[in-house]
Amino acid sequence: MERVLKEISGLPPLVFPPEIRDLTSALGLVAQRRAVLLQAGDCAESFASHGADSVRERLRVILQMAVVLTYSSGLPAVKIGRIAGQFAKPRSSPTEVVDGRELPSFRGDLVNGVEATPEARLADPDRLLRAYHQSASTLNLLRALTGGGFADLAGVHSWNQDFVRSSPQGARYERLAEEIDRALRFMKACGVDTRSQRVLHETDFWVSHEALVLGYEQALTRVDSLTGDWYDTSAHMVWIGERTRDLGGAHVEFAAGICNPIGCKLGPSATVEEVVALCDRLDPERKPGRLTLIARMGADQVTRALPPLLRAVRDEGHPVVWACDPMHGNTFTSTTGRKTRRFDDILREIAGFFEAHDASGTWAGGVHVELTSDDVTECLGGGHEILEAALDDRYETMCDPRLNGRQSLDLAFSVAELLRR
Ligand code: TRP
Ligand code: MN
Repeated sequence: MERVLKEISGLPPLVFPPEIRDLTSALGLVAQRRAVLLQAGDCAESFASHGADSVRERLRVILQMAVVLTYSSGLPAVKIGRIAGQFAKPRSSPTEVVDGRELPSFRGDLVNGVEATPEARLADPDRLLRAYHQSASTLNLLRALTGGGFADLAGVHSWNQDFVRSSPQGARYERLAEEIDRALRFMKACGVDTRSQRVLHETDFWVSHEALVLGYEQALTRVDSLTGDWYDTSAHMVWIGERTRDLGGAHVEFAAGICNPIGCKLGPSATVEEVVALCDRLDPERKPGRLTLIARMGADQVTRALPPLLRAVRDEGHPVVWACDPMHGNTFTSTTGRKTRRFDDILREIAGFFEAHDASGTWAGGVHVELTSDDVTECLGGGHEILEAALDDRYETMCDPRLNGRQSLDLAFSVAELLRR
């Protein structure tokens, strides 16, 4: 472990302080009600799917959702992927039973292997190095795609995948894309030189992951020579999980010492005192964009658990971004033994989140979701209804159940409607 961390300490940063500061500014706009946040990607990335197709498809669905949000709300969408470093998973239990055999839990490809053998489940420090290199190649591709034509608004139709196009949401997306085409033609006809407007052809895309394995994060934490400030250069934004947000714990201590934008997950048991203390600790300067609180309350709890927190943080004058993670509070095991989530619960939690913000006069800043562009069958329901018996068809996740491409687009339209209201 020591040898590997020393090696990583000597490798180049994955992201750079000026980019990180730009993200803080962009999130600052969300805190000030002038933008919305879309944070999305895999629950856990895997060493097995590192190819160009996999990266491009994950970006495609996020761009598609972002354009729906931007066009419908009339506000910029800050696009952050759970990608290029989302390799570590906190687990509720140190062991799990697979096919009748008790094994150490899978902790993400950063730590051990998903295969159900005792050998694979041994922690292997060389995985840290592999995660670094895969993150570097993923980032390289993301930079090329977002700056080199793939994210061009002129290609807005091409983000609709075939299996999505045939659904009602896909058709709705086609109509929206057609309107965007028309708006661009209109601007051109008015004499705007659309070709020279880089903002129409490129987009800013940031990367994030849970800062769980602190040795890895620390090895990539560097002083910015320009400002003298410390930055974790493993990602633009990192977040603290619900299980590690202990005020006296190492994860909070680490996050307090770096200048990146920080996320903190909050479950239904979070108290007003805890949350205010976390705000004071993580954002003592009350800087808009520095802290994003990501509520993962569960559809049944959100309207009870969230309002007191919104009021307390507001009254303390902390300019946080509030995001809704409608995934992690709504997980259960199906009768067929699959870990799953109901699409209806996910939408219901988002609606409750907006309702709570309406009541307290605060800004429902955005969403944090787990998705894949693939046609998987991991979450129940949605327009093209997935039933419990169908979960086994294409259940591919290494960890939590993700929205498929169709459900993701459906969710974007629902959030857009709530934003408009
Ligand atoms: N640059 C703008 C933005 O990021 C417009 C834009 C270009 C865009 N390509 C996009 C918006 C793709 C959403 C998706 O907001
Ligand atoms: Mn997850």
